[in-house]
This record gives sequence, C-alpha cells and structure tokens, in this order.
Amino acid sequence: MEHQVTTIETVADTLILPLFKGINKPPNRALIGLSRGAQSQVRGAIASEDFDGKSGKTISLWDSECKVILLGMGKSEDLKENNSRDAGANIVASLGKTHGKNLTVRFTSGWKANQMSAFAEGMMLRDYKFDKYMSKDDDDDDDDTPYSVTFQASARHQERLTVGCDRSAAIATGVHIARDLGNEPANKLYPMEYAARAQAFAKGKGNLSVTVLDWDDLLENKMGGHVNVGKGSEHKPCMVIWELNAKAKDGPCPIIIGKGITFDTGGISLKPGAAMDEMKFDMHGSATVFGLLVALHGVGHKGHMMGISCMAENTPSSTAYRPGDVIDTYSGKTVEVLNTDAEGRLVLADGLWKAGEFNPEYIIDLATLTGACVVALGHEASGLWSNDDDLLERVRKVASDSGELAWPMPLLPAFEKQVKGSKIADVKNLGDRYGGANSAAAFLKQFVPEQGEGDDKKQYPWAHIDIAGTGWGTSTNATVAHGATGVHVRTLVRLINNE
Ligand code: BES
Ligand code: ZN
Ligand code: ZN
Repeated sequence: MEHQVTTIETVADTLILPLFKGINKPPNRALIGLSRGAQSQVRGAIASEDFDGKSGKTISLWDSECKVILLGMGKSEDLKENNSRDAGANIVASLGKTHGKNLTVRFTSGWKANQMSAFAEGMMLRDYKFDKYMSKDDDDDDDDTPYSVTFQASARHQERLTVGCDRSAAIATGVHIARDLGNEPANKLYPMEYAARAQAFAKGKGNLSVTVLDWDDLLENKMGGHVNVGKGSEHKPCMVIWELNAKAKDGPCPIIIGKGITFDTGGISLKPGAAMDEMKFDMHGSATVFGLLVALHGVGHKGHMMGISCMAENTPSSTAYRPGDVIDTYSGKTVEVLNTDAEGRLVLADGLWKAGEFNPEYIIDLATLTGACVVALGHEASGLWSNDDDLLERVRKVASDSGELAWPMPLLPAFEKQVKGSKIADVKNLGDRYGGANSAAAFLKQFVPEQGEGDDKKQYPWAHIDIAGTGWGTSTNATVAHGATGVHVRTLVRLINNE
C-alpha cells in the first residue's frame, strides 16, 4: 500500500468516511470534492435512521464518479487504538475490485491523531497476500497494482498524522516480512536460506549487521542443541545473530531470540500426518525476529539491540538424534532427549546461553513451542512466562496495547522439578503429562544466563512467549486473512522503543 497525507481536498475512486456516533448531518468539510449527486446521497444517508454512526455499521453509496463508504465508529471518546486499527483492517477486507485502487480516507470531526494513525495501520496490516507461487494468466483479472491511499485530515493534524502513517507503514512492512517467512513452504525456506535472506537484508545498511554461525561453527562452538536437532536433515542448522546500532552501545541492550524450526516433522518421534503441513510455521519465532529488525530499522530506531534466530529442520533419518540420546548444549548442561519432537527448547537452550555473552538488559524468546499452549489459550493469546515481574508486566501491557495479547502463565518450581528429574543427565526435555506449556517454559529457564558473582549471582530478566496458537491460524484477528500472522513484531517495537 502506498500512502500520502494531505488536507481535505479532492477524492479518488472511493471515499471512505469514518464517522462518529450521534451526527445527523455531514461534518464540516466531509463532502468536499464530491459531485452534487454524491453529496446529496451522503446527506440523505446521514440524516436517515439507517446510519447512526454505530460502531461497525457501513453504508456504501454509488455515484458514477466516486463511490462513498460511510463507516460507523461509535463514540469518539470510546474509540481505543485497538478498535480503530481493527476498523481500518475490516474496511480493507471488505473492498472489492469495483472500489478501485485509489482510496481517500477522510478523517473529520472528533478524530484524534493516534486514532487516525491506528486506523491507517489497520488498513496497511490487512493489505497483504502471499501469492508468489501462483501462476498469473495474462488475462487474470486480479489486478496486482498496490492500493494508493490518501489520508486526509485538517491542517492541524498534518504533522502528527504524517509521522504516524510513515511509522505504521514501516512497521507493517516488518509484519508482512514476518508473515512472508512464516508462509514460505519448507522446501523453499530452510535454515541457511533464512540466513541468506537476513544477510541480503542487512547488506548496505551501515547500522545493521548479521553474523551467521553455520554447521562448522555450530560444531566448533559445541552448540549441541542446534547440532542434534538439525543433524538429521540435509538442510543443516545455523544460528543467525542480528545487531542493530552497535555504535550506540552504552550498557546492556534488549536481546530477542526466535525459534526457527523451518519444518518440524517431530523427528524420530514422528508427528501424526494430519495437519503436519502446519509445521512449516514452526519458525515463526525467527520470522518475528526478522520482521522486528526490519520494523526497527524502518522506523529509524536509534538504540542498540540484538536478535538471535535459532534455525534447524527437524526430520527423521539415519543421522537424526534419537529418543534416549544425551546431548551437550552450549551452556555445558547435558539433556536427556525423551522425545525428539520437543526440539524447540533444545535450539533455544543454545540461543539463550549465547545471549549471555552480549550483556543483555533483558532476554525475550518467541517460540511456537507447545501444542499445550494452543490447548490452553487457543488462537486468542500467546502464553507469557517470566522470571521478572516488571518485565512480565511491561510485555503484557505493550502486547495488550498492540492488540496482540500475551497472557501471563505460571513459571512454577514444580515444573522445574519435573525437567530436572532425569536419572542420567542434568535435565530432560520432557515434563509430566499435564501442563506441557509450563514445563517447556521451566526447561528454558534452566538455560537463562546469570549476571553477577557469588551470592549476587542472578539470572538476567527473561520472558518467554509461546506463539504456537497466535503465529498462524487465527480467525478473529481482523488484521490477518489467513496463514502466518507476524505476531508480536508490533508488541516488541513498542517495548524496545519504550512506548
Ligand atoms: N512445534 C511443536 C509445537 C506446536 C504444536 C506448535 C502445534 C504449533 C502447533 C513443538 O515442537 C512440539 O512438537 N511440541 C510437543 C512437545 C511434547 C513432545 C512435549 C507438543 O506440543 O506436543
Ligand atoms: Zn516438535
Ligand atoms: Zn516445534
């Protein structure tokens, strides 16, 4: 979507007029640029009982020169950013070919700058499709021209709306790249292909660097989590380390880690066949990390931050790791592998430990980690665990403000006891039968690095976000049609920007 911000002037193919509740005549300047016929239709509709500005109510009016969509927004003082974003997204979802590609969105009385920017953000987020593998016919009537949207508001809003829309566009680009990566099939996107795309993105960007630890580096560094999970596949694993604004380094920095299993067959503990195709999304944590770096770079973020993507393909073969194997992780801790399908926690173990080498302010990992989290929270909220109450509350709040819920879950000693219960290794990669999302979080906690010495030794603040249910497959998220969601790119931009 291309966009521009102007004062209220002409109208394009379609005018979208979002209006608040309680009006019975068009707000000041709402009808500028419309033909006489269209003006009288809008007046009539607003005066009638058919349109009262109730939230979600739409009326489409037809004129030979311009189409007008009246959109009810409810009461101005009640309009939260989350609802405004959804309204923008829903409008884009409802558009058809006849509306054309040139749209005017006209914000009139009652609109505040943050509400307008959120509406624009919703439109941009929803304007997404993943059709790169579909053949195009010459006479295909699906027009690939991007939407060009003019956001119009009064002169006093111009500056803030321009900044807000540019920012929303940069963030939407990051979200869309995360979705692209999530939607890519596993034969096209494997660990080293992700690394190549990361390097291609960083190329020529002076404040962004990407370092790839390839198969040989993983072996040399004794990163046994990656090596073991990935060794059954001809697509070898890798770790991708991102660094933004290294020159701004002044003390600790946020570090975001992503699970990047480009396909999870379960390995020797093979998954059942039904819906196994969905396991191409098992790299969505790393997709979010990629999208986050794109978004932060795009908004011109100035602070120092880092990302770590833990990439591997989990497949069975004669070289694959097995149930019963004891593996060494990068931390030096050994793990008894009781199920090769609990692989995400093994690559993350290496990633978490690696983060300890970079002076973290806090560490957050994102992972499509457990089916149990989907059982607990459905597709409506990510699970959120933390060893630090302040960090937990900050993440919960920015996630909620972004309309990407992250729901607090318990990091209980009882679950740690389960994973520490191996008879032959330091930990095992499986908990008891119930509460699997919690035992997975408790497993990860064993690999969170510590700061300080002696009695002052303490783990870095760390949060784990299980996105198994929210990374894909949502039906209630207005900003997504289907497939990968790009979840938590926006949450983390807010968090890292301290909004
Ligand atoms: N990638 C899966 C988790 C998953 C399941 C994500 C469904 C999205 C939808 C993960 O690697 C996995 O297989 N976890 C196992 C863990 C179990 C073996 C302890 C699970 O959840 O069944
Ligand atoms: Zn698995
Ligand atoms: Zn997995």
